Amino acid sequence: MIPMVKRVSTGIAGLDEMLGGGLIAGRAYLVEGPPGAGKTILATHFAMAGVDRGENALYVTLEEPADQLKEDMARLGFNVGSGNFKIVDATPVNPERSVVFSESPDIEFGESFERLLNSLSAELRKRDYQRVVIDPITMVKLTVPNELEYRKIFLAFLKTLRRYNVTVLMTAEVEKSDVEKYLVSGVIRLLRVESGDKIVRAIQITKFRGSAFDEVMRPYKITNQGIQVFPEETVFI
Ligand SMILES: Nc1ncnc2c1ncn2[C@@H]1O[C@H](COP(=O)(O)OP(=O)(O)OP(=O)(O)O)[C@@H](O)[C@H]1O
Ligand SMILES: [Mg+2]
Repeated sequence: MIPMVKRVSTGIAGLDEMLGGGLIAGRAYLVEGPPGAGKTILATHFAMAGVDRGENALYVTLEEPADQLKEDMARLGFNVGSGNFKIVDATPVNPERSVVFSESPDIEFGESFERLLNSLSAELRKRDYQRVVIDPITMVKLTVPNELEYRKIFLAFLKTLRRYNVTVLMTAEVEKSDVEKYLVSGVIRLLRVESGDKIVRAIQITKFRGSAFDEVMRPYKITNQGIQVFPEETVFI
């Protein structure tokens, strides 16, 4: 008998359909795309989908300060950062700089990642979280200049997260996420493609371990309600 896997909604109906019902619970995923593609919005949909189901969600923001994130997401109708939705501000401009960035300029390789992991683990022990977002992971990677070192640290990072049985969604800038792509359980790509004389937004699943999925590039829109994916439509290039 084939064991049933637990599916986790991304909060975007069309994307869940492309994923054959949703992400597989307890695993780590990557959303990659160019600036302004909607990575943060997608990650917020994912976290909110959990909160709406009574789960706890932890959102680590590394580039956009928490107050700005709250403001931007509120405009799309998401009430983030209250109740079961916890935001950790790990941006370098955060005066406390407590989570990732060391005050000393001569931080050792991987130290920042270790700091992130330690504070994440502490938070995960404190509360029973089901969903974790790291937005973007690229920011942490930049603090580890050596690729081999990064690979090792990233693997250890995934292993630690697995212990807490949380579903993890990380965002990354395109072309800066090679290592992660191999190591995570699935990759969702956001693209801007030329379709005739227009530029359209398109979404594609390029990897999904343990599941069948729609491999076709599908159009998506960002509106006042967030991201909408059209799983029946195709993008003509
Ligand atoms: N109400 C809206 N209607 C249409 N588009 C919107 C709306 N609100 C935001 N957007 C689009 O969403 C984009 C921002 O989305 P988001 O912050 O998720 O992008 P991102 O991929 O995280 O970008 P970055 O790499 O800069 O972090 C804007 O560039 C804009 O195009
Ligand atoms: Mg973003």
